[in-house]
Amino acid sequence: MKFFIDTADINEIKQAHDLGLIDGVTTNPSLIAKTGKPFKTVAKEILKIVDGPISLEVIATESSQMIKEARTLAKIHKNVVPKIPLTLEGLKAVQVLSSEGININQTLCFSATQALLCAKAGAAYVSPFIGRLDDISSDGMKLIEDIVTIYKNYQFKTQVLVASIRHPLHVSGAAKLGAHVATMPFKVIMQLVKHPLTDLGLNQFLNDWKNVPKNKIS
Ligand code: G3P
Repeated sequence: MKFFIDTADINEIKQAHDLGLIDGVTTNPSLIAKTGKPFKTVAKEILKIVDGPISLEVIATESSQMIKEARTLAKIHKNVVPKIPLTLEGLKAVQVLSSEGININQTLCFSATQALLCAKAGAAYVSPFIGRLDDISSDGMKLIEDIVTIYKNYQFKTQVLVASIRHPLHVSGAAKLGAHVATMPFKVIMQLVKHPLTDLGLNQFLNDWKNVPKNKIS
């Protein structure tokens, strides 16, 4: 399972990268806006740090404009994966861009039928937003199960990129279902390693070690 960081915050990306924990980055217009920096500046900073797929989202909503924007984004760097919303116009754009060999991450997926259409259009990734489904009392993880099953049934090559992850249970749930990628905020990456029993156990080991007689250094 690949781990992507879902942020445009350069410090967080650097920290996660230095820890060797991330394989790629996903951004969206809201995350870019939070940085207070121009889009291209942020994109270039991210591309310098991480050598893996970097999702950058198009702003256009009409297919021919989406295609134009995605082609421009893809030209910035070989690692750029243009992100296109899962609308009818988005599907039209994905068909064209995929046939040109451009890897697309189709985003804002909230149903199994949307994911099926996205795979048929040839997207490299589909991004189902599980946290936002949970927020409205819908089962986000059930959607991942459905998509993974459908993609297996027809051997689709589209990778399931689980997005809108809010906590570690989302990550382990997606991993159990065999999702290809989980994209998560920095905070969740840090939560994955923490366990109070690990900290307690280590403390006890180190305290007990003080009672082990020491050899005399000759
Ligand atoms: O990048 C897309 C997605 O992960 C957004 O997550 O927390 O805004 O629902 P969230």
